[in-house]
Parts: sequence; structure tokens; C-alpha cells
Amino acid sequence: MTNPVLPTPPELDALWPEERLIPPPPHLARRAHVPSRSTLAAFRAEDFPHPFAALADLLVWTRPWRTLFDDSHPPFWRWFEGGELNASANVLDRHLPAAHGRVAYHWIPEEESEEPRSLTYGELLERVETLAAVLRDDFGVHPGDRVTIHLPMSLDLPVAMLACARLGAIHSVVFSGFSARACAERILDSGSRLLITADVYRRGGAILDHKAKADETDALVTEGGGRLDAVLVFTRDAERYASPTPLRSGRDHHLNPLLARRRGTRVPPVPRASNDGLFLMYSSGTTGKPKGCLHGHGGYLAWVAATCRWVLDLHPGDVYWCMADIGWITGHSYIVYGPLLSGVTSLLYEGVPHYPDPGRPWRLARRYGVRVFHTSPTALRALRRLAPEGPGLERPPFEILVTVGEPIEPEVWRWYHETVGARRAAVVDTWWQTETGGHILATLPAADPMRPGSAGPPLPGLEVAVLDEEGRPLPPGSKHAGTLVLTTPCPGLMLGLWGDEERYVRTYYGRFNRNPHSHDWRDWPYCPNDGARIDTDGYVRILGRIDDVINSSGHRLGSKEIESAALAVPWVAEAAVVAVPDTLRGQAVGLFVALGPGAPEDPAHVRRTLEETVSARIGPIAHPHHLWVVPDMPKTRSGKIMRRVLAALVAGRDPGDIATLANPEVVSVLAEIVAGEGTARQPPG
Ligand code: WTA
Repeated sequence: MTNPVLPTPPELDALWPEERLIPPPPHLARRAHVPSRSTLAAFRAEDFPHPFAALADLLVWTRPWRTLFDDSHPPFWRWFEGGELNASANVLDRHLPAAHGRVAYHWIPEEESEEPRSLTYGELLERVETLAAVLRDDFGVHPGDRVTIHLPMSLDLPVAMLACARLGAIHSVVFSGFSARACAERILDSGSRLLITADVYRRGGAILDHKAKADETDALVTEGGGRLDAVLVFTRDAERYASPTPLRSGRDHHLNPLLARRRGTRVPPVPRASNDGLFLMYSSGTTGKPKGCLHGHGGYLAWVAATCRWVLDLHPGDVYWCMADIGWITGHSYIVYGPLLSGVTSLLYEGVPHYPDPGRPWRLARRYGVRVFHTSPTALRALRRLAPEGPGLERPPFEILVTVGEPIEPEVWRWYHETVGARRAAVVDTWWQTETGGHILATLPAADPMRPGSAGPPLPGLEVAVLDEEGRPLPPGSKHAGTLVLTTPCPGLMLGLWGDEERYVRTYYGRFNRNPHSHDWRDWPYCPNDGARIDTDGYVRILGRIDDVINSSGHRLGSKEIESAALAVPWVAEAAVVAVPDTLRGQAVGLFVALGPGAPEDPAHVRRTLEETVSARIGPIAHPHHLWVVPDMPKTRSGKIMRRVLAALVAGRDPGDIATLANPEVVSVLAEIVAGEGTARQPPG
């Protein structure tokens, strides 16, 4: 039996021919943490979990761990049980006083005429302690409390995360581009009583009023039966509050005067158990409700520290730039926790990569001497299209070029390698997820040959397999695509889903678990819900999601969430969302709607209403790039919408067997409508 959403062997051969291997740049081995695979020979998957004990030494513990791998409550594996540590002490205090004057972050405002601001490790610790004092002494934040942070890319964001971590509170960062409603949903789910936000930020040349969202969020939280005790507002420009939305007395607090009062207060880091929660990161899945992935301390931090050495090869003092947003897992692990654990100097950029022109990232990289650069295929596709000549440097500063978040096409990979890196840098394609906390598949930059378009083998100590529909492993080199699974647990893997143990087990283990009562981790392959193909040499090519998640510009969007947003329009009778292949974004959002009574006649009005509703309920990232108004949806006899048929139509694929549909005649009508469609207008920003 084959999975209808996975490509067939002929489609695979046409789309993804196996590329040849390219050796790593030889000069990297001289300084690399991992000059060859033999350096990590002790990390044998056969010896699981024992090799991972060594990772604990990358952290500073206030109490040593007793049990390396606790399997008493499967599949909720626990690492370094019995140990205690504090995340903020691990990323800050441990480097001091030696690195007191070393820059932790250079913050780069979007406007080139505006001066960058830098924070040293010493200054960062001082800011973290000051904010921690405000949170603890003015707002009563206790260990284990959840604090929601809705901040743009400013220095205040890592400060806020680390202040929570210092107190042992669980931070829940909501990507700044998410709507007030999305923020409110996350506040309600996590039970946060505090929201940390900002007045304004700059993006794409515009000043955005962020504070307005906080008011709307608060109203929605109240409507949902929750309660925010306070809204704390950072200002982008020192003392000046720049939002046109006024502060509401009694609820809103301008942070600057509060911080000024507490400046200089020392706040000792609160020790946390290895498996206490450090943060929540909400992620889209199969159902309409985003799930709160809860990450812990010991396992998460150890894995992030290890992958920063193995995969990013970060050394203290290196200049590193990850262009992702801290509001996503990449930013948590590889802008905040990992780089600070590694003692590097990071760039933190406020705006869009190609503002004011596509030469901006390359100017910055040269000015700061960026050794390790980290971005997404979508950013690369845009930069390549706008300025194919790239940085135009004979000797670019880069030694390692990292990509994450979506499958990268071999042509884009080659442009990164040849034009951006002048063939002198290693390209590292990293596959992982919010759930795994850190990298799972990647090549080691100085040690492994690279293959364009392939994320590579699992990291040392881990094992993966690609399974067929019956759960049997496909042999390496198989012509068939299957489902990727992680067959060994990983220390970085989340502790679980916030408040929903059952959903955790069902979502990630339900499909391939062999025995629900087993305490043997071998019976619990972790299923990330990605399709993949495995090469003869064990390199894995990721083919994209096999559930209802759309990966658009590297943003993970739940099709059910967008459908619910569309159905909030009273005259929308039915809605179905599918991924549309897109040369710039990887995938774009395609929305099919059937209209009911009261729908406007004017198609532009229909489109505008749907675009605005989706943007207001989720955020502009979920903008429906394609919209089709259809008379009916293809349905099974039990009335279920067959999204598979719609997905095939928009991708120009054969819709397969439609004989089982209740209304097979609608398919040809839909095919005509899809063929006649013009693309929706672009979203703002
Ligand atoms: C996809 C982002 C291909 C994949 C770190 C995964 C990738 C989802 C890659 C997780 C890659 C991530 N190649 N696809 N190198 N990296 N993905 O949770 O479908 O935002 O399941 O984490 O992105 O997205 P998330």
C-alpha cells in the first residue's frame, strides 16, 4: 500500500535525482570541534543511552544527575533525572568574569541609518537580573509560572526569556507577527497571567504598532475566561513610548521606570530540576488547536550545546548570525540558548533580510566578519531571485552556511555553496522540529561530505529509519518514499504537550508504537510526520509534511486553523486548505471555499473579507495566496471533504481514484476553476 500524499518512485526520480557527494572544505578540520566522525566514535546508537552521559559535562549543574535515562513513564523519557541547574546561569554567569566585555549581541536596526546597539555578556546579565527583579518583586512571578512574551526582534526578547529562566518561570514566546487572537489562545492554554510586549517595531520599512495587539489580546483573554494581571511594555527607543495606542492605567506598565528602580539588584538563579519546564513553544499540528510543546532544562540544553559544537562548530568569540526570528524554535535554540551557551557573538537583526535591498545581509556579514551564517531556503530563494550575483566576494567571511526549516532545492543549495560561500564554506542542511529542540539530521561541517538537497545522516548517537505504510523499514537506496521516524530517543526532545499527555502519545507515537505497555524505548519510534527517502549511504532527503501542516516560507501552518478562520466568515459554508507548490515559498496556502446565503456578489469583496479574516485570526503569515470559490467540495459518502483530491488538482497531479466520492462529477468542474485562477494579491510585509 502506498501513501497518497507521498511521491511515487517515477515522480521521485524526476524531481529528486540522487546528487553526488561534495567533500567538506579541507581547511575547516584544523579548528573544528569535530574534525572527523571518529572524534565522536563513542556516540554509537547501539550503546544508547550511555554515550549521552558525556553531554551533561557541557552544562554547569548545581546538583549532579543520578539517572541518565529514565524510562519509567513511556514514552515520556526523562534525561539527567535528579540533576539541578539553571538555564540563565548556564548561558551567562558561567562565562563571567572572563567574557564580561565580550559582545553577546549586536542588535541591528532595520534602518541602515540607525546605529546598531551592542550588549556584552556582562551587560546582558545585568539586564536579565534587573528584569528578573521586576518580575519577581513587582509582579510576584514564581518558579513554574508561565509568562507570555510577544516581542519583536529586539534585545529585550532574549532578556525577557532569560529573566524568566533565571526565576524558574516558563516562558512562552509568541512570534510577533501572530495576531492578537493567536496570542490570546496561547495565553489561555498556558494559563499565563503576565504579558510582556513592546510599543512598536520596524519591519519592511514601516513602523508597526505592536501595543494595539496587546489590548485586543487582553480583551480576547477575558472573553475566553482567562485573566491577565498585567501587561508590561518595552519601548523600542529608550524612554520614548511611540505607540499611538495609550497605556491603560492599572493594567499596563511602562517597563523603563520599573527597571530603573531595580537596576543593580542581584537575582540569584533559581535551581530547577533537569526535567522541569523551561519554555513552551506552540506549534501547528493536525487539529485546529496549536499544541504547546514543553521543553525542559537538562536534556534540551545539553542537546542544544552539543549540536552547537557538532553542527554549527561554534567557538567562544566566533561571530555568528542566524536570520530566523526568536519567536520560532530556531531562534530559541540557535539565537538564544545555543549561541550563548557557546559564548559566541551573535547578530540580532530587526527587519526583513532584503531591506532596503538584497545586498543588506552580505554587507552586514562583511562588516561584522560573520563566520557562521544561518538562514532558511525561503530567504535564500528570495535573495537569489532579487540579486543572483550574491555577495560578490572572492573571499567571503563565511566558513559554515546553515539552512533550516524546509526542503532546499539542489539549485538553491548550489547557489548558497558556490555564490554565497565561493565554494570555501561548508553548507549544512539541518532537519529537526519544534518538538526535537535541536538538530536531528545534519552533516558535520568539517567531517562529512555534503549532498545538495539532502539533510544528511542522523547525528552521532541517534538512529532514524524510513518506514513504509506497514511500518517496515525501507532499505537504504529504496526507490520508494516513506515516513521518517527517529528510532532512538533524543535528549533534546520535548517533555510533552502542555496539559495533554494523551495527544502527545497519539500524535508522535500512535502510528508506529508496537506495544503501548512497553517500557522499552525500541518499541516507541518517534514519528515527526515528515515524508522522506533514504539514500544508499543513509543520507535522508526530506519530502515535506504528510499531515495537515503547510510549510510556507518555513512557517508551520495548520490547514485546520486556516479553515476555522475562513469558517468564521458567516457566509462561508465550507472551507478546505491545501498546500500549493510555490517557487519562492516552498508551499503557498491554497484556500477553497463554498459560499452560503448572504455572500457578496463581488468576487473582490469575497477575497478581501477572507484575507482580512485569516490575517486577523492568525496573522499575515497565513495569508491565502490562492483562493478558489467552488460550488461544492469533493466528498466521501460520509460527507468528509477529500483534501487529497484538491491537493492533487492544484499540484497538477492525477487526483487518483475518485470513484469512491459521493460527487465524482465535481472534480472536472473544480479542475476548470483551478486552471482559470489568478493568484491572489500579495500579503502586506
Ligand atoms: C520541516 C523548524 C526539510 C519539516 C526547525 C519539519 C525541514 C518542520 C527541514 C518543522 C529541512 C525543518 N529540510 N524540511 N532541513 N527542517 N523542516 O517545528 O517538515 O517550525 O517537520 O521547526 O519543518 O518545523 P518547525
